[in-house]
Amino acid sequence: MIKSKNQPLIKLVDVYKKYKMGNEIVKALDGINLNIYSGEFILILGPSGSGKTTLLNQIGGIDKPDKGSVYIGDTDIVKLSDKELTKYRAKTIGWVFQFFNLIPSLTAIENVMLGLELSGQTKEMKKRAERLLKDVGLEDKLNYFPAQLSGGQQQRIALCRALVKKPLAIIADEPTGNLDHRTSMEMIKLMKELNEKEHVTFVVVSHDESLKQVADRVLHLVNGKIVADQQGKHSK
Ligand SMILES: Nc1ncnc2c1ncn2[C@@H]1O[C@H](COP(=O)(O)OP(=O)(O)O)[C@@H](O)[C@H]1O
Ligand SMILES: [Mg+2]
Repeated sequence: MIKSKNQPLIKLVDVYKKYKMGNEIVKALDGINLNIYSGEFILILGPSGSGKTTLLNQIGGIDKPDKGSVYIGDTDIVKLSDKELTKYRAKTIGWVFQFFNLIPSLTAIENVMLGLELSGQTKEMKKRAERLLKDVGLEDKLNYFPAQLSGGQQQRIALCRALVKKPLAIIADEPTGNLDHRTSMEMIKLMKELNEKEHVTFVVVSHDESLKQVADRVLHLVNGKIVADQQGKHSK
């Protein structure tokens, strides 16, 4: 896969975000500068409370910084209106969460189709949804409900839901945090396969050091600052 080293896909410039808790001010992000290139698999490690989720929320356009810019290509998403930001989120970013966040009353294929939001649920996209579920080994589970499936299977559905709209990037917050070791390893392998096959950039937050094996880059976040930005084991 070509990993463009020219223009970053995602670029954070001097991003600051603080929260007020009573009289205390928490610097959740304290001057983040970061370039993420198309096709990269980025792992973000860091202790609890170091700002990992806050950072993902900035990239995903869920939250805005107090100061700084978040560029996706040439667009500073901090400057977008709420309406434009909603469109950005729906088209550009796929999310995977620790607790899967599937809709219990919808089947596997229906949950994946939900990922299309504004992109339109065409026949062609339904085919893509089915193919993705097949790619993750769930072709015989299309009409199962989440409660009928294991945690690992549910997370694979969540991964398909994130991918179905062909996002530029997948953001995953502790995607293996609720899976046992063996299932985590399967999930990690799948994310890497889809990173390469679908040419989609991954930004993954985790405590799970196993992810280092598939990451191009490993960032360490401490107290809202990137204190290390290293090549992962996977990078050549
Ligand atoms: N909505 C919020 N209100 C108040 N404080 C928050 C909020 N979100 C995050 N924080 C604080 O910001 C810091 C970073 O949080 P977070 O990004 O969730 O860390 P991590 O994901 O690394 O555990 C923590 O001290 C947390 O308590
Ligand atoms: Mg978090």
